[in-house]
Amino acid sequence: MLSIYNATSKDYPIIQEIAHQTWPDTFGAILSKEQISYMLEMMYSTPALTEQTEKKGHHFLIVKDEDIPLGYASYELNYKGSSKTKIHKIYILPEAQGKGVGKLLMNTITDVARENQNNTLSLNVNRDNSAFDFYSKIGFEKVGEENIDIGDGFLMEDYIMDKKLA
Ligand SMILES: CC(C)(COP(=O)(O)OP(=O)(O)OC[C@H]1O[C@@H](n2cnc3c(N)ncnc32)[C@H](O)[C@@H]1OP(=O)(O)O)[C@@H](O)C(=O)NCCC(=O)NCCS
Repeated sequence: MLSIYNATSKDYPIIQEIAHQTWPDTFGAILSKEQISYMLEMMYSTPALTEQTEKKGHHFLIVKDEDIPLGYASYELNYKGSSKTKIHKIYILPEAQGKGVGKLLMNTITDVARENQNNTLSLNVNRDNSAFDFYSKIGFEKVGEENIDIGDGFLMEDYIMDKKLA
């Protein structure tokens, strides 16, 4: 049975393990190996995760099936002082995709956003990532695009997608 809980720093190894197993599968055909390694270090090293949770107000959720971790998400309420909740990360292990884990994470973030009077969910997705279709299916709309310079000559080429919460 699936369960979901709020992660703490004890869970960083779980998040790091899932990220390292999922990113090559997700981005192998979209980004260079060098960019994947660079981004994993930038976003998932222990200092990076510590800064996100302790300084930037990111909250991580983990989904397990019994005691097996399958995926995680992170979100930030009141993004940049607005009434938006920004979803920074959502990754499910390749073998566990398509079984409702992503939807469970999204529904949980939606509930928390509503409880905190946020009226919109917002996220960035790589323009070549098929996750765009998942987000469209669950009610997100493309509201813009941006290229973000992340250093070392690498770019994130994203769509911005929003979903208004009724
Ligand atoms: C995108 C992702 C988070 C979706 O989570 P998931 O657990 O696989 O999706 P779910 O099983 O909850 O799917 C919900 C619905 O969306 C559909 N869906 C899921 N992924 C899809 C995709 N890539 N393309 C089209 N539809 C998709 C499912 O078929 C399902 O439809 P249904 O409700 O009619 O059955 C997950 O597949 C994932 O981690 N992908 C790789 C990492 C990634 O790209 N993360 C996002 C970075 S921005």
